[in-house]
Amino acid sequence: MMGSNEWYKRMAFYQIWIRSFFDGNGDGIGDLYGVYEKLPYVKSLGVDGIWFSPLYPSPNADFGYDISDYYNIHPDYGNMEQFRKVLDKAHELGLKVMMDLVVNHTSDEHPWFVESRKGKDNPYSDYYIWRDKPNNWDSILEGKAWEYDETRQQYYLHIFARKQPDLNMDNPRVREEVKRIMRFWLDLGVDGFREDVINFISKKEGLPDGLPFIPVINGMPHYKDGPHIHEYMAEFRKVCKEYDCIQIGEGPMTDLKSAMRYLTGDEKSLDMMFSFDHMMADCIYTEYIHRPFDLVKLKKAFSKWQKALNNKGWNALYLENHDHPRIISRYGDGRYFSIRRQVPKYWKESGKMLAVSYIFQQGTPFIYQGQEIGMTNIKLSSIDDYVDVSSKNNFHTYHLKESLERRLRRIHISSRDSARTPVQWSDSRNAGFSDSTPWFFVNGNYHTINVEAEEKDPESILNFYRKCLDLRKKSKTLVYGEYREYFPRDRHIYMYSRSLGEVSYLIICSFSRHKIRVRFPKEMKGMKKKMVLCNYPAGKEVRGNGWFRPYEARVYKMADK
Ligand code: GLC
Ligand code: CA
Repeated sequence: MMGSNEWYKRMAFYQIWIRSFFDGNGDGIGDLYGVYEKLPYVKSLGVDGIWFSPLYPSPNADFGYDISDYYNIHPDYGNMEQFRKVLDKAHELGLKVMMDLVVNHTSDEHPWFVESRKGKDNPYSDYYIWRDKPNNWDSILEGKAWEYDETRQQYYLHIFARKQPDLNMDNPRVREEVKRIMRFWLDLGVDGFREDVINFISKKEGLPDGLPFIPVINGMPHYKDGPHIHEYMAEFRKVCKEYDCIQIGEGPMTDLKSAMRYLTGDEKSLDMMFSFDHMMADCIYTEYIHRPFDLVKLKKAFSKWQKALNNKGWNALYLENHDHPRIISRYGDGRYFSIRRQVPKYWKESGKMLAVSYIFQQGTPFIYQGQEIGMTNIKLSSIDDYVDVSSKNNFHTYHLKESLERRLRRIHISSRDSARTPVQWSDSRNAGFSDSTPWFFVNGNYHTINVEAEEKDPESILNFYRKCLDLRKKSKTLVYGEYREYFPRDRHIYMYSRSLGEVSYLIICSFSRHKIRVRFPKEMKGMKKKMVLCNYPAGKEVRGNGWFRPYEARVYKMADK
């Protein structure tokens, strides 16, 4: 069953958002010198590859996702030579390297756009989407989706920020550019791409108005999974097939049914997709409307994708990335704490439990920088301290009738900046991230939450992630086994099993901050169970079996008598 590129199934990946990873040259900004230094650390986690968020030159209107040159490295992060050094070293260590391919849009400072906006009759005129009259679409990051250009005297479309004009993928020359970019990096030796909002690249003809009254995503039905998407994806897939590489698509708001077309069958164009369903267990979409966390919703989302892709496709498993607030603050014990408390009471327990909740599902786990040490959301005291374009925009656009305090609290809960604070390496100045003042705020809890301290503590979140990845890697069942969920309506317990042939594992996670009683599945009565992993120190189990401590998580290996 293993096709040539199916190496990714056994693997786990680590995502690096470089600006906040580690500063190697002392200017306060994370860079490829820092990455080079920390590669052994990354390797030590037990991952097999890295996904780099964009490293390319960019004016940083959206921190790298607004690219002004696809064939180079941002001077803040190093240069091509340093990139090659990192790539070689990573390969030497047995780590694959995945680049971020951002082709729904470019920066408005990209030379293509600079030309395109000059007029209707130059070679780049049709590289972007220009109209005399805008439709009613909102953008996702910054106001309306159309911006008037004085020179060209037309509006251009930007589904994201104003400085991110959408490329016109219907233009075959644009698709050729995309393929050229892919080949360039593949020829250099990278092992695949994470494809940014790739489900948005084909827009419905005529760009019809979206639904009125629905903010932010009103145009989405007309650009998500659009009419030509699968033709375009097939073209890109062909390039990848010339190499032994993988493609992971980011698929915001794409439902399971549409996702199946990318992930399975003859038309398959992606090896995995980052779906968003399980990121909605506490919100409508992360940056806009917050709701209390709902475990049943989370489990439903998990199980839906697990069941549908079993034997047909493959899941990308994640809980964090650079677009979502920290998971302990959302789904763990952090959701109970106010601004004054820097480290939640059950920080460690819930941090480890969350690892168990997703790493043992069927799919390839992704860990986002800082997640492995249990970093939590930052709470800045003024909106002016935030740097993310959508956090600022949301603050000044929505919920304006509420008090300033409440509005700021919404930002504390939802901001993408929470995932973008410098990685906490040690207890020393600037959390050991840099010798000079970091480009962005360091979370004040770094005295407790940092790599150095957690390296020394055998019971740390960091060492627990290592144990999880190790256990998964050693078991075919935990990699390939079939997934089954138990007690889907239980509001505190998430329970699932993985089975392959004779071997089964039972995974139990308590999302409660109280001690609670857990029932075992009827089907497993009479089976012998051996606990192979627990997030509490060994030897201190509560006897009387069915009682779980706050946020307790256990993995059992099951066997017939
Ligand atoms: C993706 C990226 C996000 C970016 C957006 C526009 O969702 O992950 O960071 O803002 O695309 O490129
Ligand atoms: Ca630097």
